Amino acid sequence: MDQTKVVKPETLDDLIKILHKMFEGDSVNVEEVQQVMESYRSNPQEWKKYAIFDKYRYTRNLVDEGNGKFNLIALCWGEGHGSSIHDHTDSHCFMKMLQGQLKETLYDWPEGKSQGDMVKKSDRILEENKVAYINDSIGLHRVENASHTEGSVSLHLYSPPFGHCQTFDERTGHKNTVKMTFWSKFGDRMTAETALSQENN
Ligand SMILES: [Fe+2]
Repeated sequence: MDQTKVVKPETLDDLIKILHKMFEGDSVNVEEVQQVMESYRSNPQEWKKYAIFDKYRYTRNLVDEGNGKFNLIALCWGEGHGSSIHDHTDSHCFMKMLQGQLKETLYDWPEGKSQGDMVKKSDRILEENKVAYINDSIGLHRVENASHTEGSVSLHLYSPPFGHCQTFDERTGHKNTVKMTFWSKFGDRMTAETALSQENN
């Protein structure tokens, strides 16, 4: 067993450096990654250049490519913005709150059900600095900023990185494969065509 003490990142850059180390090998220690991400205390000065909002829907802003091992992405959720129900393409997904709150609703996979509403398993509110974790064996989720007054920002780590996922219709369970795009990369806004937002997670 690896008994390495979990180090506390002082800044976002520091957190990224530590994550690069933690993902160097072939295995991922989920609890440890969660702890490290949680122990970073969100400082808007450090991430505001990635936090580019859109009026109409939430945005995905690439922060770091993790030496090919993971993608670190800042998601910006305007008031009332939310995702579809989606999967995570067999990857790990860590979600850290940088600002505001998000509501996460978990669903079972619709497999085995011929028709009808998807089954809600649970929901919870994620508070600032908290880290949630999901993968396909846990289930599917929908993420929403339920606030009418405040935008939310969350930092997502996906490992291995992926460019497509599946979204699910809550009423029928029917799924669609969607391409995930970036609204900005490393603080630079993408051109209108490449950033054309479809569905994401
Ligand atoms: Fe997700």
